[in-house]
Amino acid sequence: MYRPARVGSGGARRVPQTILITGGAGFVGRAVARALVARGDRARVLDSLIEQVHGSRARPEGLPDAVELRTGDIRGGRAVAGAVAGVDAVIHLAAQVAVTTSLTDPVTDFAVNLGGTLTLLEALRRRADPPFRSSPRPTRSMATSPT
Ligand SMILES: NC(=O)c1ccc[n+]([C@@H]2O[C@H](COP(=O)([O-])OP(=O)(O)OC[C@H]3O[C@@H](n4cnc5c(N)ncnc54)[C@H](O)[C@@H]3O)[C@@H](O)[C@H]2O)c1
Repeated sequence: MYRPARVGSGGARRVPQTILITGGAGFVGRAVARALVARGDRARVLDSLIEQVHGSRARPEGLPDAVELRTGDIRGGRAVAGAVAGVDAVIHLAAQVAVTTSLTDPVTDFAVNLGGTLTLLEALRRRADPPFRSSPRPTRSMATSPT
């Protein structure tokens, strides 16, 4: 997870965050979305609702009504740029997860899992207000601690 700023430390009252969950309509993403809403954060989901997982484009069960659902592909620069606008943090879960597909269609596997991740990072880097924390140790500015 990319977390640009730590809030609520030192006993201070926690400020709600707006958090983007890519692939947030999936198994893990829905659980994360429920947890975020339960603790008072705003959750936005970017998910292409792939047929192999969802069967239809209907809003998935188990995704709270409070969650903003954007149907879009992690490989699409415009959709991703729109999804990262204004968010405080990103949990990146959108992925081609099928081992069989990775063997029969490695090009798509690479495009979604590697290309999609790069598209996301690029959209964050290009934000008018890039949310990256400045740090003398750049590799540490991409925090991976769980929410
Ligand atoms: N489920 C587990 O036990 C587990 C364990 C370890 C790691 N993970 C990882 O967590 C992530 C999510 O796993 P999951 O089990 O929730 O999978 P999932 O298949 O249930 O969810 C993935 C979501 O990504 C979406 N998606 C797929 N391609 C997309 C694209 N091109 N653009 C936008 N959205 C797209 C799908 O529609 C789906 O909703 C994956 O990276 C997976 O490898 C899962």
